Amino acid sequence: MKLIVGGSTGFVATEIIRQAISNPAITSIIALGRREASPPVASGPDGDMTKFKTLVIPDVAWEDYPDAVKNELSGANACIWTIAVTPSKSRSTPWETTVKACRDYATYALKTMAELADKSKPPFRFVYVSGVNAVRDPAKKPFLLGDYLLLRGEAENLVLKFAKESKGDVEAAVAKPGIINGPGRVMGLLRGVFLHSIVGLPSIGVDQIAATLIHEVLHGFESDTLLNDDMVRIGQGVLDGRL
Ligand SMILES: NC(=O)c1ccc[n+]([C@@H]2O[C@H](COP(=O)([O-])OP(=O)(O)OC[C@H]3O[C@@H](n4cnc5c(N)ncnc54)[C@H](OP(=O)(O)O)[C@@H]3O)[C@@H](O)[C@H]2O)c1
Repeated sequence: MKLIVGGSTGFVATEIIRQAISNPAITSIIALGRREASPPVASGPDGDMTKFKTLVIPDVAWEDYPDAVKNELSGANACIWTIAVTPSKSRSTPWETTVKACRDYATYALKTMAELADKSKPPFRFVYVSGVNAVRDPAKKPFLLGDYLLLRGEAENLVLKFAKESKGDVEAAVAKPGIINGPGRVMGLLRGVFLHSIVGLPSIGVDQIAATLIHEVLHGFESDTLLNDDMVRIGQGVLDGRL
């Protein structure tokens, strides 16, 4: 499988790339970002750095990829899209940038990648990594972070609609994790403990969500909406060698 990872420098994407490097079913990894991604250290007997390529897209080109980028993306079988302005960063980011990064870049990527995909092995699989609180129904705008959560829900709707209308060429899923925990995230861990105990948000390990999303693009989506606890179950099953 040729896998594109959108948001190559991010927390979740870094773990996806680390696991994909050692997965023999993935033969090529294109890491897409606005900055160069540092290659992870290959581990295990199947760790193969030669299949990793980092691709930088300048700020002006996220809705109109240059031909050189399109050439690198062509023939792919799947994409895991993690690019977003996260809720904490959205407060200090212009709203127009947040809209582009959370919605428009993803919908353009999906349309373009679907056109360029490996047509000999349909479907092209696309995962939009969102969040547990994103809201798809505009009538249900939350009191806190309302515009942001509706924006994420709108992006979810657009991704799923595109796949539905592709008549089988594209399969899409939305991942809706709660708090994502991982090594080296001390502030994140404290925030996570607070949100988990006070607000009741579910949590998942970054290794679990990465393992789930790789498993799902390789084997097909259990559901078009992957909820936190389902991803804990699938991801842990993969990490334990049961799946
Ligand atoms: N972390 C969590 O606890 C958590 C919980 C629930 C849901 N999620 C969701 O999971 C996904 C990944 O989260 P994460 O924690 O990995 O986030 P992250 O570490 O902030 O990574 C986000 C990625 O998006 C890129 N990006 C942001 N704004 C961009 C822009 N304007 N143009 C191009 N690239 C841009 C970042 O690039 P730079 O590195 O250059 O900034 C980075 O590669 C997001 O959709 C997030 O909402 C995360």
